[in-house]
Amino acid sequence: MTVKRLTIDYTEYSSIEELTPEDAELVLAAIKAKEGSYSPYSHFQVGAALRLEDGTIIQGANQENAAYPSGLCAERTAMFAAGAQFPDKAFDTLAIAASDHGHPCEDPATPCGSCRQVMAEYQSKFGRPIKVILAGSRRILIFEKVDDLLPLIFDSLKA
Ligand code: THU
Repeated sequence: MTVKRLTIDYTEYSSIEELTPEDAELVLAAIKAKEGSYSPYSHFQVGAALRLEDGTIIQGANQENAAYPSGLCAERTAMFAAGAQFPDKAFDTLAIAASDHGHPCEDPATPCGSCRQVMAEYQSKFGRPIKVILAGSRRILIFEKVDDLLPLIFDSLKA
């Protein structure tokens, strides 16, 4: 038996001013995207902004439903919209921001497992890493690739 250890890498920033202009723009787009949240059940508003390889920004927001599983997270509304409208454009960076009952979250919201798996699929589809920015008002985390959010990714395209 051998005990193995996996490590992940991410960078922490204390404010949006520390980011590159491109990343700061995308975080502001994610914050703006929260306005499209339909969240009458959780009152948790999530916004996502996805930059494609050509610079196009696609926004998404969580959409809830009285039949709870029928809703969808902000990240997947953005990724599926991009996948449907621009099937040949690789994903470059995905930024996520959240508010609880209208109050911006100090700590970043972290994507659910299903959203991480969908990120992994598009990363594999286009063969290039997707940068993920988790933006809270007190700290911002940047992951350079989905692997750092989803170690031991299931990836049938590579199997
Ligand atoms: N949600 C997202 O949209 N993205 C996340 O990263 C976490 C959770 C949504 C799902 C649901 O509408 C609400 O937040 C509460 O879980």
